[in-house]
Amino acid sequence: MAFWKRRGQAGTLDRGRLPRHVAIIMDGNGRWAKGRGLPRTAGHAAGAETFRTIATHCKHLGIPYLTVYAFSTENWKRPKEEVSAIMGLLEKYLLEAAEKMAKDKIRLRFFGDLTPLSRELRLLCDETERISRSYESEIQVNICLNYGGRDEILRAARACARDCMDGNLDPDNFTEKDLARHLYSKDIPDPDLVIRPSGEVRISNFLLWQSAYAEYYFTQVLWPDFTPGELDRILGIYQRRQRRFGGV
Ligand code: FPP
Repeated sequence: MAFWKRRGQAGTLDRGRLPRHVAIIMDGNGRWAKGRGLPRTAGHAAGAETFRTIATHCKHLGIPYLTVYAFSTENWKRPKEEVSAIMGLLEKYLLEAAEKMAKDKIRLRFFGDLTPLSRELRLLCDETERISRSYESEIQVNICLNYGGRDEILRAARACARDCMDGNLDPDNFTEKDLARHLYSKDIPDPDLVIRPSGEVRISNFLLWQSAYAEYYFTQVLWPDFTPGELDRILGIYQRRQRRFGGV
């Protein structure tokens, strides 16, 4: 029996109407840890495991793009130890991913300005992207790292300004497409569904340009407790929504 028919709610999903791109703000790690009397870093470690499970589930469902918010341009304000712990988890994940990627068939990409990261982590990101490019995969997972939606748009605007100065773009007539060509997401579809766990109801500078017509879903579940079943439930709700893109 097909995978999606065997698994609870996934069996009721319409395979023809799955989102092509799901984006997730992985929120609630700190509260999850606090609730268990653990340090916040333990919450991030649990969150990294959830990320692995959900990425694999998306691949099995046939969702071709998943984008997750791992570290924002504002997250540097957190205590030094917490920032190092998150970077350490990313490093650990990428080292494991380098071995598993070809087998798991998960292609990884990074959205964000990687220059302030440690040399080791930067090299690891570059290497992961390089290996990923060399094989066909059923899913592309974009990890937003030192990412901010406003920062991304600003960089794209600067690039367009440079194109105008060079005479390659007309400042009065350049289009949304011209600007989008300079976004990290330039070659992938916009997110259809943005999910934020943990009960917070805000966007926090995530994919501001790309989510103009996304469906949003906010769930109370904390990210480390987020399961494939919860994703299936949200996908079911997504499939019952009417998307009009400004039409009627
Ligand atoms: C937000 O929860 C979470 C983060 C800022 C970090 C997310 C990082 C990971 C899940 C680990 C590494 C990622 C990968 C892709 C391997 P919070 O700390 O704001 O939680 P709180 O609101 O409960 O305090």
